[in-house]
Amino acid sequence: MATINKNFKKLAGNYLFSEIAKRTKVFSEENPGVEILRLGIGNTTQPLPPTIIKGLLHGVKKLADVKTYTGYGDEQGDMRLREALSDRYKKLAVDIEPLEIFISDGAKPDSANIQSIFAADSVVAVADPVYPVYVDSNILADKKKIVYMPCTQGNGFIPSPPKTKVDLVYLCSPNNPTGAVMRRAQLKAFVDYANKFKAVIIFDAAYCEYIYDKSLPKSIYQIAGSQSCAIEINSFSKWAGFTGVRLGWTVVPTDLVLDGTKKGEVNALWNRRQTTMFNGASNIAQEGGLTVLSKNGQRECQKVIDYYMGNARIIRTSLIKMGFEVFGGENAPYLWLKIPHGFTSWGFFDKLLHQAHVVGTPGSGFGQNGEGYLRLSAFGHRENIKKALNSIKKNLKP
Ligand code: MLT
Repeated sequence: MATINKNFKKLAGNYLFSEIAKRTKVFSEENPGVEILRLGIGNTTQPLPPTIIKGLLHGVKKLADVKTYTGYGDEQGDMRLREALSDRYKKLAVDIEPLEIFISDGAKPDSANIQSIFAADSVVAVADPVYPVYVDSNILADKKKIVYMPCTQGNGFIPSPPKTKVDLVYLCSPNNPTGAVMRRAQLKAFVDYANKFKAVIIFDAAYCEYIYDKSLPKSIYQIAGSQSCAIEINSFSKWAGFTGVRLGWTVVPTDLVLDGTKKGEVNALWNRRQTTMFNGASNIAQEGGLTVLSKNGQRECQKVIDYYMGNARIIRTSLIKMGFEVFGGENAPYLWLKIPHGFTSWGFFDKLLHQAHVVGTPGSGFGQNGEGYLRLSAFGHRENIKKALNSIKKNLKP
């Protein structure tokens, strides 16, 4: 008799963003004609720049000709793209070989799947608040012990290495949800911790292109000693607007060694996982990805990032003017709003939706320490962002 994976019962009823969509839909149905202003999910809204469109079209056209048609590609990704990403790391003064880079259909699936190459009894550390995928994927895989690293106003929303010995440490910088960015010394503390305890850091750098402050690291591999203890996951989603196109990558350095493994073995393990369970990223998406990495592509993508960061600045300054306390949004597309006393995150979410018709993301959906906060995303259209702020100013009752 088949039985379900009972670990699903340990998860919250709905994935956070599905719950938000559900509540928003109910409100819309009860209030037809009311315009909803969405600053909730971090979903890109701006069209892809011309160079990227050209790349994607090129990928489509290749499929129309028997001489250039391709079916399955390498599960690890198109070598041209792996090489182009390796060159990108060189610009950060980081040496990552193309064979250490695995192209995927995005950072979310990679960050959910990566736990599968580690032992079931691994102890996992995550920040609190945290991107829910890291926790849920480990719960589903029956990883029993999760250690939370508190991120509060007191520590600038930056975690410290766990006090106890853990096996896996998830870090996300720039951070989803708080918008905080780890400095080199803060990352170094984790690298030292991981090397000392033979732990592995899973570093999610999906928002690194939003870093404006040049002193802040964009990759964990900018920290000495990290290649022996860190896996990095990244994505074209927020960088190049590929949220719907789907393209990402994961770096598993050859130097990464676990207890009882030799150099290259962990890399080979991820290769085994990917070749078994993944048929490679879309060839069209990968052609698009190649143009993202071209000079013109990068310049055009930067303009879109500047647009979103312009939104972040507007949200930040307007809300501060209204008397709110706001964090993040300076080197990240997320803002972390401290909720006025007397409201829970979901309570304030409902108030904002009902009074101002604005959708945010309740901080408590990201963990216990997110209670009392609301995340706002800067990925909207500028006019909607402005409308949302006007509506908060005009309609939100104290
Ligand atoms: C978010 O809003 O946190 C992100 O859009 C979710 C994601 O990238 O999967």
